[in-house]
Amino acid sequence: MTNEKIHLSPPDVGPLEERYAIAAIRSGWVAPLGPEVDAFESEMARRVGTAHAVATNSGTAALHLGLLALGAGPDQVVVVPTLTFAATANAVVYTGARPFFVDCDPSTGNLDVGLLEETLARLRRDGRRVAAVMPVDMFGRCADYERILPICAEAGVPVLEDAAEALGAVRGGQAAGSFGQAGVLSFNGNKIITTSGGGMLLTDDATIADRVRYLATQARRPVPHYEHGDIGYNYRLSNLLAAIGRAQLRRLDTMIARRRDMRELYAKMFAAVPGVRLLGEGDPGENYWLTVIVVDPAEAGWDARDLAAHLADRQIETRPIWMPMHLQPVHAGVEAALTGAADRLFATGLTLPSGSALKESHRARVEHAIDDFLTTR
Ligand SMILES: Cc1ncc(COP(=O)(O)O)c(C=O)c1O
Repeated sequence: MTNEKIHLSPPDVGPLEERYAIAAIRSGWVAPLGPEVDAFESEMARRVGTAHAVATNSGTAALHLGLLALGAGPDQVVVVPTLTFAATANAVVYTGARPFFVDCDPSTGNLDVGLLEETLARLRRDGRRVAAVMPVDMFGRCADYERILPICAEAGVPVLEDAAEALGAVRGGQAAGSFGQAGVLSFNGNKIITTSGGGMLLTDDATIADRVRYLATQARRPVPHYEHGDIGYNYRLSNLLAAIGRAQLRRLDTMIARRRDMRELYAKMFAAVPGVRLLGEGDPGENYWLTVIVVDPAEAGWDARDLAAHLADRQIETRPIWMPMHLQPVHAGVEAALTGAADRLFATGLTLPSGSALKESHRARVEHAIDDFLTTR
């Protein structure tokens, strides 16, 4: 069907996932936890290179508990990039701490490290308590940890890496999710692998892992009766969904390769187009989660919304990049250190169909539609 809608990043599931899910159902382990959760955690910890992993029912839940395990709470601030998805900042607010937004590097969309350093110095001068810094590995590219980690260590502030979008990415030989005191992955439906919904906290610190596991299971103490030492949460991943995650993890490298093919197509198509660049181009370790173009309308003679409208007419989905947190009505008045970089990326960036489930016919339709748009400019 030629008019079938082409989505940005649809789930990529097939016979392997079906086999794993059926085997999990037949095993009788349908109730919340079970051997698939244990296996998914240990396989993911091995892949990312951390000592511990705790599977949760969303990435947001893992961010929330990671912050609690690092001691975030009222009267504290947590430094969050302004260019991110709402969940990063929401997790801070759940703990009673307040976010402090920091602008991004315009070439990658990741945290502006110079501004982070200035912000931490300023917060220290003002006697503020900083519970954590949460760098986000935007669109599947690791933040600049060679610089971020020593700056945070010097300031005595732990790092919680939001690697929700970045499973499979590496930087300097180290995997996304393994930087900082803890890292978080998402297996939401649009991510590089999916459990239909789910997440995971990764850490080398056994105390953090134990605390997160305990809080995620209603803070139930290990005694035969129901005894609770804290207000806990019902945040664990189900055994059935973990089975799907294990199948997806086996296919991760193939899925990254398919997304890289889409990126190469876009790189080729826009290479000679004045005023258009690919966000973060040239990072050899990224997972190619989503391709984002940035369009300078003065140079290109058109803007990102023109292309979005042209593709929407042809049933091809695109999205503006995240609206920065400091512009969100819900965060009006929240403290921020800004340069205008995130505002500009929001105004000029466009996310293009990038999923590994896109078929050859989808790819051809996208290519044809963009080609058509560019030749009529
Ligand atoms: C940067 C970022 N952080 C956190 C999340 C939240 O993950 P989840 O949807 O699994 O709760 C997402 C994606 O949804 C994300 O893109």
